[in-house]
Amino acid sequence: MEASAKMYEKIELIAGLDIGTTKTSLIVAERDRHTGEAQIIGVGSARSVGLRKGLIVNFEHVVKSIASSLEDAEGMTGISVDRAFVCFSGALTTSITSKGMISLGSTPRQVVEADIQRVIEASLSEISMPNNYCTVHTIPIMYSIDGQRGIDDPLGMTGVRLEVEVQSIMSPTATVQNVINCAERAGISVAGLIVKPLASALGVLTPGEILSGVAVVDIGGGTTGISIYVDGALKKLSVIQIGGDHITNDIARVLKIPIEAAEEIKKHVSLGEDVDAFDEEIEYAAQGKRGACNAGQVHEVVYNRLEELFEDFVKKELRDVGSILLPSGVVLTGGVAKTYGIAEMVSDVLGMPVRVAGPMESQKMPPGRNGCEYASTAGIIKYVNILEKYPLKFIGPSISFASAGQQIKTKARREKDESFHPFEAVKSALSAIKRTFKELF
Ligand SMILES: Nc1ncnc2c1ncn2[C@@H]1O[C@H](COP(=O)(O)OP(=O)(O)OP(=O)(O)O)[C@@H](O)[C@H]1O
Ligand SMILES: [Mg+2]
Repeated sequence: MEASAKMYEKIELIAGLDIGTTKTSLIVAERDRHTGEAQIIGVGSARSVGLRKGLIVNFEHVVKSIASSLEDAEGMTGISVDRAFVCFSGALTTSITSKGMISLGSTPRQVVEADIQRVIEASLSEISMPNNYCTVHTIPIMYSIDGQRGIDDPLGMTGVRLEVEVQSIMSPTATVQNVINCAERAGISVAGLIVKPLASALGVLTPGEILSGVAVVDIGGGTTGISIYVDGALKKLSVIQIGGDHITNDIARVLKIPIEAAEEIKKHVSLGEDVDAFDEEIEYAAQGKRGACNAGQVHEVVYNRLEELFEDFVKKELRDVGSILLPSGVVLTGGVAKTYGIAEMVSDVLGMPVRVAGPMESQKMPPGRNGCEYASTAGIIKYVNILEKYPLKFIGPSISFASAGQQIKTKARREKDESFHPFEAVKSALSAIKRTFKELF
């Protein structure tokens, strides 16, 4: 008994709920408080119902999907989860960069916590937030002191002028509120929120790629999330409301076959230039009926939809940053990245190196639950780990600076008080977000 009590003191549980358009997953990890090592012990999964293009369209159905993924995870781990960090697809999410500057006085002095708070506040006051949007992540991406750029953590450094560049990730307030409400109705209290493109980036990127410059494109069922990193910092984040479901729908429409059949046959398509295979027939069975369709025709539909996604949408996002700043090219993930030959095809369209990647921790995840479609799910654990180590790396979720400020202040407390837990900071930030929501609705 005593030994197990001791063990619990040392180990804490982290859970991540990933609400996607086609599947909802729940990842559970054990984290060693002393070493910071997180061990994934289970990934539950369930089909999502009640979402379209990344947005909740049926509250009760989404609650049921969450409950099913919870049940699945509990069956796998024997652990009942009642609190989780929640990842959502973030349709209509966008990022805005802003800069802030403050004077530290006429003679050089050391930067203290309050200065960091003030400079972030100054940068946020520059932003004009779109109507009915809220900030999900406030990410200080770079500090400068007296013009010296590229400072990660200015605390304790000396100068007369402190500057910061901040990336604010914003989502429609109602979307965020729906996500929180669904999770809570399913019995999960929300420890923090994370948008899919950020979670996917944390899930699949190597530190080397982030440093050199890279774009992550997560193509899910209803959305495509894009995160672009330049010089080690998040430069841009966006979500396009196109995903694999659109490919399936196109196939069903063009070939006049049931959706289930279209979903099945699209997984056999190879985007490589093997024209000989185009005359082949792909067989399917759906709703008790068997049928076959022409491989060339399916190929054309899949190719056209993906070409449109990259040519018309992804390219524009990359152009805003400049592909010259992305020597590590593009990393594709999400369920659609499993399409055969997609890396070569996208590389041709974008004229950049492309690789397909699943979660970096895939070998620690259960087989069948560790592929590309679990990139964002795995990223949640990474996010929580970073938050634990560096509470100032990602601030949020917060609507007003008041909640972000709470977390900044708690860092000072942490140094004195060993028992401080950054999750509590997130919790207090979240109660701030909730209060603000209450005022709004
Ligand atoms: N082998 C495969 N080949 C092609 N497409 C696939 C394959 N496996 C899965 N997909 C497609 O991937 C999509 C689901 O991906 P994923 O699980 O990443 O989405 P999601 O997280 O539920 O949705 P979103 O993130 O957009 O909200 C579906 O459209 C599915 O058809
Ligand atoms: Mg997803």
